[in-house]
Amino acid sequence: MAKLAILEFPDPRLRTKAAPVTEFDAALRQLAADMLETMYEAPGIGLAATQVNVHRQLLVLDVSEDKDQPMTLVNPKVTAKEGTQVYQEGCLSVPGIFADVERADRIHVEAHDADGKPLSFDADGLLAVCIQHEMDHLVGKLFVDYLSPLKRELVRKKLEKQRRHASTAEPAAAAL
Ligand code: NI
Repeated sequence: MAKLAILEFPDPRLRTKAAPVTEFDAALRQLAADMLETMYEAPGIGLAATQVNVHRQLLVLDVSEDKDQPMTLVNPKVTAKEGTQVYQEGCLSVPGIFADVERADRIHVEAHDADGKPLSFDADGLLAVCIQHEMDHLVGKLFVDYLSPLKRELVRKKLEKQRRHASTAEPAAAAL
C-alpha cells in the first residue's frame, strides 16, 4: 500500500474528465486500496481518482462513523434522483474550506466494485452527498464551482495564504 499525493485547487489537472475503466485487474484493486489508505489518512470521507491524478472513473468513500465501511465505485452512474438537500461540504483538494452545496436528496446508483461485480443501490443523506461530490470530480468539477465567481476567488486567495503559512491550516472535519 502507498499513500498518494492529492492535487489541490486550482491545479488544472483537477479539470480532467476521467475515462471509463475497462479492465478490472490487480492494478485497479491496488489503486483502490491506495486511494482508501490516502483518504483515511488525510483524513477524509471520499476520494476520486482525479484527485490523485489518475483519470479513470473510480472513487472510494466511507461515510460510516467507525470508518469501517469502505466502498469502491467504478464507472458510477446516477440513474435516478429525487428531492434536494443542502450540506456543508469540504474537499481534500480544497483544504480548510467549507461551503453549503445543494444536491439531490436521494439517488439511485449503478456501478461496479473493484472486482467488476455490478452494484445497484439507493443512497440518501451524507452517502448521497458524498457520491455526487466524488462523481463531480470525475468530470473535472469541484464543489467551489457551485459558489459565485467572487467567492471562488476568495477561496483561491485563502488557499494561497494557507500554503504560505502551512502550519495554520485548519484540519478538514469532513472533507470529501
Ligand atoms: Ni472532493
